Amino acid sequence: MDRSEGPAVRRRDVLGGLAAGTALATALDANAASVAADKRKRYVAVGVGSRNRLYQEALWGPHKAHGELIAACDTNPGRLNHISARATKAGAKPPAPYLAADFDKMLRELKPDAVIITTPDAFHDDYVVRALDAGCDVITEKPMTTTAEKAQRILDAVKRSGRHIRVTFNYRYSPFRSQVKELLMSGEIGDILSIDFQWLLNTVHGADYFRRWHSNKAISGGLMVHKATHHFDLVNWWLSDLPVSVNATGKREFYTPEMARRFGLQGPHQRCRTCPEKAECNFYFDMAADPGLKALFLDNEKYEGYFRDQCVWRPEINIEDTMNVIVGYAGGTTLSYSLNAFNAWEGYHIAFNGTKGRLEHSVVEQAGVAGASGQDESDRIKTRIVPMRGNPRDIVPATGAGGHGGGDAVMLADIFDPNAPKDPLLRAADERSGAASILIGVAANRCFETGKPVKIGELVSGLDWPDYPKMPGHKDPVAQPPRMQRA
Ligand SMILES: NC(=O)c1ccc[n+]([C@@H]2O[C@H](COP(=O)([O-])OP(=O)(O)OC[C@H]3O[C@@H](n4cnc5c(N)ncnc54)[C@H](O)[C@@H]3O)[C@@H](O)[C@H]2O)c1
Repeated sequence: MDRSEGPAVRRRDVLGGLAAGTALATALDANAASVAADKRKRYVAVGVGSRNRLYQEALWGPHKAHGELIAACDTNPGRLNHISARATKAGAKPPAPYLAADFDKMLRELKPDAVIITTPDAFHDDYVVRALDAGCDVITEKPMTTTAEKAQRILDAVKRSGRHIRVTFNYRYSPFRSQVKELLMSGEIGDILSIDFQWLLNTVHGADYFRRWHSNKAISGGLMVHKATHHFDLVNWWLSDLPVSVNATGKREFYTPEMARRFGLQGPHQRCRTCPEKAECNFYFDMAADPGLKALFLDNEKYEGYFRDQCVWRPEINIEDTMNVIVGYAGGTTLSYSLNAFNAWEGYHIAFNGTKGRLEHSVVEQAGVAGASGQDESDRIKTRIVPMRGNPRDIVPATGAGGHGGGDAVMLADIFDPNAPKDPLLRAADERSGAASILIGVAANRCFETGKPVKIGELVSGLDWPDYPKMPGHKDPVAQPPRMQRA
């Protein structure tokens, strides 16, 4: 696949769309003159779909004194017009629009300090490497990339360029997950010998992965990379450790044409919008009913032919919905992890089994398909220490306001605010943590195909130990696997 193209995006369609977009063409001519004169950090964004709105809102809101979004780049000219309208509505200067084919031109003309990358996953590496080689820093969404080869390109480019990458693992910043890290660091449960971790996706959010570009493994890496990168990163960071071996099985058994027929449907069909079985299908999704999705996707289909509401029963889907993984860590801990994408509720359970006791932590993100309504934080989030001897102790979960339990605001400050307080939990992740997390998913994908275990060290070279907080058994917080250092 040509990495300069998005999912189902063909260049001639984009150019056809551009010819129709006079406002955009005029704005393109004005780009060269748009270099900002002030001292704030100058950011450009590539891939301005759903996720990019978080960064737009940060730079047009709480962080406007720290940075400016000077340009936006996308394969879809309609979404470039959309971000321009959003900026105006927010009272900000519209970012200069560039089509994806003009990414390098944008960097040459504007010389930004940093590039924010929020394209579909398989395209991250190409923009990361081009940005680093142009002398820019990078803020990239998770997963950092989708294959070992792409991870290697990024690791090499960081060393070559001397520039910095931030991989935005927002899950680390949720107060209740930061609290788990603090509890583990306190040593109360001793050294962690094994972990049991189950993550459940329901048939609202979970099903959505099977409607969008995520359903194509070449673009998303499958859920082992796209979704589990969050979870593997959490475990790596919670343990302050790196994975060394992976064994896994995976299958797709629910989102299949056969299951559609078990539900009494005639399908699969192409997409929900034109589906002849809208009334009968429990998974019907009305994109037009959501003004945000309509403005971003439905109204811009004419430029690219990408459907955000593809049928979840399509035979060409090639990602798994049921995955089980065993990971061995350098420090000796074993992780047993499962991910299921068609569950009755959404959230997770994790238990850390330590030499002095057990830490149990669970979060209900959506209680059922109707959501978690009626549940307050204390019902949704549970953390408990069960000592080896003595009574269990419930921990009052740490919470905050806003997205991801207040974690998004803390992360955005950590990224954009030069005066943000020093973080004792070292939650800011770079290419080392970005690679460590996706390599577990890459290895699991390889196990699905071969049935054989994979050694992480065989996937890339030159993966350095991330900057991790010191754990009870460590003599040094960085550079050496902890078990090797234990007395
Ligand atoms: N941290 C989180 O919790 C979180 C949440 C959602 C998404 N994400 C990540 O953000 C990224 C974007 O996801 P999204 O949900 O916004 O997707 P999206 O489909 O809503 O948006 C992707 C955008 O990229 C554009 N695009 C596609 N191919 C391109 C290319 N080759 N060059 C330039 N632009 C291209 C599309 O036109 C679209 O505007 C993904 O990597 C995803 O994993 C992270």
